[in-house]
Amino acid sequence: MNALTRDLVKLVETAEQSQKTREELSVSDRKFREKLHLMPPVGWLNDPNGLCQFQGIYHAFFQYSPFNAEGGVKMWGHYTSKDMIKWEYQGTALYPDQPFDCHGVYSGSAFIEDGKMYLYYTGNVKLEDGEYDYIRTGREGNTVLVITEDGKMFGKKKELMRNSDYPDDLTCHVRDPKVWKENGTYYMVQGARTNEDVGQVLVFESEDKVNWKFRNRVESEKPFGYMWECPDYFKIGDKKLLSTSVQGLEGGIWEDRNVYQSGYFEIEGDILGEYKLSEYHLWDYGFDYYAPQSFETEDGRRIHISWMGMPDCEEYSNPTIQTGWQHCFTFPREIFEKDGKICQCPIRELEEKKHLVSDVKGMLVREGYPVYEMTISDITKNRFKVILSEKLILDYADGKFRMHFTDQDKTSVSSGRSMRCVEVEEVENLKILVDTSSVEVFVNDGEYVFSTRYYPEVYKLQAEAVGAQITLSEIM
Ligand code: FRU
Repeated sequence: MNALTRDLVKLVETAEQSQKTREELSVSDRKFREKLHLMPPVGWLNDPNGLCQFQGIYHAFFQYSPFNAEGGVKMWGHYTSKDMIKWEYQGTALYPDQPFDCHGVYSGSAFIEDGKMYLYYTGNVKLEDGEYDYIRTGREGNTVLVITEDGKMFGKKKELMRNSDYPDDLTCHVRDPKVWKENGTYYMVQGARTNEDVGQVLVFESEDKVNWKFRNRVESEKPFGYMWECPDYFKIGDKKLLSTSVQGLEGGIWEDRNVYQSGYFEIEGDILGEYKLSEYHLWDYGFDYYAPQSFETEDGRRIHISWMGMPDCEEYSNPTIQTGWQHCFTFPREIFEKDGKICQCPIRELEEKKHLVSDVKGMLVREGYPVYEMTISDITKNRFKVILSEKLILDYADGKFRMHFTDQDKTSVSSGRSMRCVEVEEVENLKILVDTSSVEVFVNDGEYVFSTRYYPEVYKLQAEAVGAQITLSEIM
């Protein structure tokens, strides 16, 4: 451990301890803390990193800036869990303490083999004392490897690649390695921005997990955004999916959506050779969703977790900043295929935490439940309306499922959020997972999902759906 690491360890612990004390002393300082969702102990959280199940235990690392709830230099915070619901904080795993990662231990992934966890990440460096634009000049995106044998002690960082090892028609923006193995060979995808400001995914290969060479690039036929971040590649049934978070989509349908998008292309062909990309499908249509990552559980499920937040967003905000922290992860979701469509649902582990409160037809009004799951099934003719905490509405109009707030004031429940929607002919069922300050809505068995943060003063739910079955389960 170098002197910088030693000081960082102490500073982070002090910041975490003072937040803990603050929340113990004041109800209003802890009132928006989630019960089921992973949050930073203090400060800022963004992308999920290094998600895996290792020796039976789930590990979730996260982009962490403990000193400022509005972001700062990034490190990897670390949680573990036995069920992906109750997460135990393990401290900071990786600090920005080397010349190749001193301006941020950026996003990356975990690969498990032979009883070891291999963590790949991007070491971010911003050069000083120059006329840099930090896009084409002045920035390093170094690929770094760290190995752990017990998930507690992290070995020496090894720099594997630098910008000079990437294709030379790219800007400095290359990052977020995700690694997997197929037919005895290791593969890595990374997100990139070309000199022409086009987003794409780079594919690297390796025989030994340490020496990597560039193999291919995946891009859309026409330019689609200027930067592709946090790529991921996996199969669901027979479908091959390339997931990526895209910056720079403007005009047309993108005007009424978030500043950046997270979605996937279905791949026809081979990402190592000839391929064709499908249209881009969004993972989530809500306000707060970016940079998801997937992993496979030991029992073979594909789990997806995202940052429930939005970078560079001026339209809306989060009042938790005033109480020392910001952002959380989405509740873990299982990805599956249904009738040829990619769907998502909350992990099945949630079932054991549910206690049925009501099971009624047509209408339900309740107060005083901050954490619950509500389902509405057998909806007919799109006749339904849900109102949460008097201000957040889920309904159907003009051929669209809509999530909207009645008030866009930054001091209101929405904290500035307005409306998100998706065109859908028929809404048949809804599953709504509500935590203290978040709502995730699964439409039609998870064919579409909407995630949002919300900041209620009262916990009240009203649901109306003629002839439909409505259940409410408290989650304990
Ligand atoms: C996505 C992202 C990544 C990067 C990380 C830095 O939100 O910009 O591309 O590695 O955040 O925190």
